[in-house]
Amino acid sequence: MDTNLDPIMSLRNDHETVRGVLNNLGGYLKKIDGSSADSLRRNLINQLHEITDFIDRDLEIHFKKEEEALFPVLGNYIGMETGPIHVMLIEHKHSRELSNDFKAAISNYQNSGDYEIITSIGNSFISLLSEHIDKEDNILFNMADMHLSAAEKGSIMEKMRAVR
Ligand SMILES: [Fe+2]
Ligand SMILES: [Fe+2]
Repeated sequence: MDTNLDPIMSLRNDHETVRGVLNNLGGYLKKIDGSSADSLRRNLINQLHEITDFIDRDLEIHFKKEEEALFPVLGNYIGMETGPIHVMLIEHKHSRELSNDFKAAISNYQNSGDYEIITSIGNSFISLLSEHIDKEDNILFNMADMHLSAAEKGSIMEKMRAVR
């Protein structure tokens, strides 16, 4: 099955895009920390909007695909109140909180000049999300491939297509 038909392959594919963005973000944060000139640092911080836009739009859609389409069906097999899906939901919540803190730190920078809070929250976000997608790729999605029937995958894919 290709990524247009298999929901698990499609979600794994999203993860590759997320990894690329996190890699970019890490590069920006290093430059922001290492910059000796305030004007250069301000330029770099202004460019973070590209990344926060991705987080607000694309990552949010990815989370919703998992929360609204995959987790309820997979939950019939492995439960949702405890176990891996429960942990993934907590991590989505934590990621949304960190991304709100990150955006707040960026907009406060104009007044406070505090860039260290931006790089510190940004690095926490990178760690959280990298570990999160590793767990999904290596554990949760393997469970999904083991349990879900072709018909279930088909209806998950349909629901995922409707997520906006
Ligand atoms: Fe997730
Ligand atoms: Fe994911």
